[in-house]
Amino acid sequence: MYPNRPVWAEVDLQVILDNLRRVRERIGPAVRLMAVVKSDAYGHGKLEVVEKIHRWCDWLGVSFIDEGVELRQAGYDLPILCLVSPLPDELDAVIKYGLTPTVSDLAIVRALSERLEHWGWDAANAPPREVHLKVDTGMGRLGVWHAQAAGTAAAIAALPGVKLGGLMTHFPLADGADKSFTREQIRRFDAVVDELRGRGLGPGLRHAANTAAALDIPESRYDMVRPGLALYGSYPSEHVDRSVGLQNALTLRARLAVVKRLPAGTTISYGRRYRLERETTVGVLPVGYADGWRRSLTGRAEVIFRGRRRPIIGVICMDMCLIDLENCPNARPGEVVTLLGRDYSGEVIRVEEAAGWMETIPYEVTCALSERVPRHYLGSR
Ligand SMILES: Cc1ncc(COP(=O)(O)O)c(C=O)c1O
Repeated sequence: MYPNRPVWAEVDLQVILDNLRRVRERIGPAVRLMAVVKSDAYGHGKLEVVEKIHRWCDWLGVSFIDEGVELRQAGYDLPILCLVSPLPDELDAVIKYGLTPTVSDLAIVRALSERLEHWGWDAANAPPREVHLKVDTGMGRLGVWHAQAAGTAAAIAALPGVKLGGLMTHFPLADGADKSFTREQIRRFDAVVDELRGRGLGPGLRHAANTAAALDIPESRYDMVRPGLALYGSYPSEHVDRSVGLQNALTLRARLAVVKRLPAGTTISYGRRYRLERETTVGVLPVGYADGWRRSLTGRAEVIFRGRRRPIIGVICMDMCLIDLENCPNARPGEVVTLLGRDYSGEVIRVEEAAGWMETIPYEVTCALSERVPRHYLGSR
């Protein structure tokens, strides 16, 4: 970590809590909320984010077992769902740290049951360990194919030491303009629940909705929603309703390293792809693709300097990029430039806009910010 680097991300934890509360208002009091904090809370800092929000959510969602272990070691005792199905050699950590695994087949639950027996699980006194069975209703990734899911759930129910604590699915296209495939997935999921109930078994907690579904598709909310992106303040696509009023929680800033005047005809940066048409003042920012400020921003991205948008010029380098500072009188090294978020004037570059420049999704913009960008936290109390 480089706390004094003249490049930093400001993460406003209060904004994250406000976003969470907005989602809560949208889903209503009867629906539980799992805060998805995987991938270091989408680049915002898992431990800091969890410390701020843990009293306001019902569950935490992480990707893999070690992320859950980290949260347990930090002292959080909320239920934690690990969203990627574990391998058999990860089951001891699941047991030791009281994590809830997402399971995609019977074999891993059988292995869990056997590990519990190995550790001397006591049927008379210890509560069974819960697993959440994922149902593949059309994501084509994790989970048991929906047509077989009720059978797998019934087999889980028969195993010693374990219990079906939840039934879940995931949507690949809830943020699309056309919600018909998501509705078909909901029908498939409901059919699994009905079949289970028909066999006299309960599904446990039913959950399916990511940000897009939680905001826009009420029938997808079931017993719990699993928003990630909304907490950090972005919308997954332009097809998701914005009336909930999310604010981006992360601002990326850098201080000018060098300012200089260059003659007309000078080419800027690698590949000589950008040529100054006239004499121009150019600023060098000490941030580049090794920070996650992607090379694909070349020729597209802008920054905010003294309340005005300025273009990034030339190819983005590993540790630097360049901006056109023409008509910014007396610009000097040390002055602050905003690459993402709001500057003091109120001008703002939203994560979604930067994602458009990068031809990617908002998720990737903040996840890509590397560890060498120090995070400074606001609103921690
Ligand atoms: C299984 C699962 N649930 C929930 C989420 C959260 O999605 P979002 O960030 O769109 O809210 C993810 C993220 O990819 C996920 O994989």
